[in-house]
Amino acid sequence: MRESLIDPFGRRIDYLRVSVTDRCNYRCFYCIPPGGVEAAARSEFLSYEELSRLIGLFAGLGVSKVRFTGGEPLIRRDMVELVRQVAGLPGVRDLSLSTNAHLLERFAGDLYRAGIQRVNISLDTLDHATFARITGGGDLEQVLRGIDAALQAGMQPVKLNMVIMKGLNEHEIERMLDFALGRGADLRFIETMPVGRAGRQGSAAHYYPADKVLERIRDHCGKDLVPVKGSRGAGPASYYQIGGGPVRIGVISAISRHFCKGCNRVRLTARGDLVLCLGQEDTVPLGHGLRDGWNDEELVQKIREAIARKPERHQFGEGGDQVRFRDMSTIGG
Ligand code: GTP
Ligand code: 5AD
Ligand code: SF4
Repeated sequence: MRESLIDPFGRRIDYLRVSVTDRCNYRCFYCIPPGGVEAAARSEFLSYEELSRLIGLFAGLGVSKVRFTGGEPLIRRDMVELVRQVAGLPGVRDLSLSTNAHLLERFAGDLYRAGIQRVNISLDTLDHATFARITGGGDLEQVLRGIDAALQAGMQPVKLNMVIMKGLNEHEIERMLDFALGRGADLRFIETMPVGRAGRQGSAAHYYPADKVLERIRDHCGKDLVPVKGSRGAGPASYYQIGGGPVRIGVISAISRHFCKGCNRVRLTARGDLVLCLGQEDTVPLGHGLRDGWNDEELVQKIREAIARKPERHQFGEGGDQVRFRDMSTIGG
């Protein structure tokens, strides 16, 4: 039988999110604080060989799902090559990407052929001026072309991530829904999370609860929302279908109803720090160990010890102010 990683709360960790760079070509204000973040030196980033080695060790411990994130993963050179290497690792069965899609038109076909089966794309607004404002100068048209390229390449599902913000884009819920339904893309509404300086400010100023979103979708469609059974398993979203339609609508209710009981994931930063919970500060420096010459057994031992330290849950919205020193942009959500 394959080995597995079980944390102290009986949760099986089979999902690794890998940040390949802490830099981004966009500056979403709820993700990157004003003035930017202190980026790691490029030499600190793990090389593709180092990343593949670590991911391979996780795969040997039962991790079958791997997602690449950033910053923006597609600004790292030769991402397609990394995807190809990781797709070839025994045990890796689900390979995905979270991106702002600015560069996706160029890379979607190659990424798909290299092994990216599905993609999650940030899209908070369909209004050009609001898009530029939220992302700090992003190009909505370019992103829309990226979404189409992913669909055309055959990536399935394509999930659109809308961080829902009071006073900024809440009035676009219905418009975004129609857009997603028209494209055959899944759509998730995400509560702004108080991670890092930017997230804390964004969440305090613009929090909008997921239940209200669902209510508005019901009103807009005039149909019941049917919960999709068993869809909780792989991620933080709870999904619904409108009537019996094919598109899934999800809400990620990190604040109003946390989903930590089903948590199945840990995160690796571009420097190789293992982040045990999105909402807690604790990390384990696997990258340092690797560069200090640890062998596979030693690294596996460190991974096991890290999982034994995984916190039970985040404490967003409970006066908790835990994640002060890590910005969302350095782990890509
Ligand atoms: P899949 O379920 O595999 O499609 O991925 P995902 O929804 O986890 O990935 P994505 O990168 O699209 O993230 C969507 C949102 O969920 C982002 O705002 C993430 O920060 C958030 N998210 C992902 N994992 C967690 C988690 O463990 N805890 C919390 N609180 N939020 C998470
Ligand atoms: N709260 C919620 N979601 C966030 N993301 C980035 N910062 C935050 C935040 N403070 C989302 C992005 C992207 C996903 C990977 O993480 O919108 O879709
Ligand atoms: Fe970049 Fe994504 Fe953060 Fe926006 S949300 S700044 S696209 S990492």
